[in-house]
Amino acid sequence: MREHYPGKEIIAKIWINGSPFEATTEMSVAAALMRYNNMQTRQSVSGQPRFAVCGMGVCQECRVRINGHPHKLACQEYCRSGMVINTETTGLGV
Ligand code: FES
Repeated sequence: MREHYPGKEIIAKIWINGSPFEATTEMSVAAALMRYNNMQTRQSVSGQPRFAVCGMGVCQECRVRINGHPHKLACQEYCRSGMVINTETTGLGV
């Protein structure tokens, strides 16, 4: 269940591809990636860049590695302090 503190924004210090970034706990990982100006979550098997399309857990285009776990949906995960997000890919998924 999502933590919610009305009117109180909680800073979540996360890592995106090895770089520190300050998100909030109200922000999805996909939103944090957009703010960070990283508009690629993975590569398709043919090497084309992919990013979030539906924003509701259906298209699977937003898959990233979070804390070492592959295939996490960036649009369905909220930022938490210490989270390590990796979007680097090999074309075979993340
Ligand atoms: S954006 Fe479609 S599943 Fe995340």
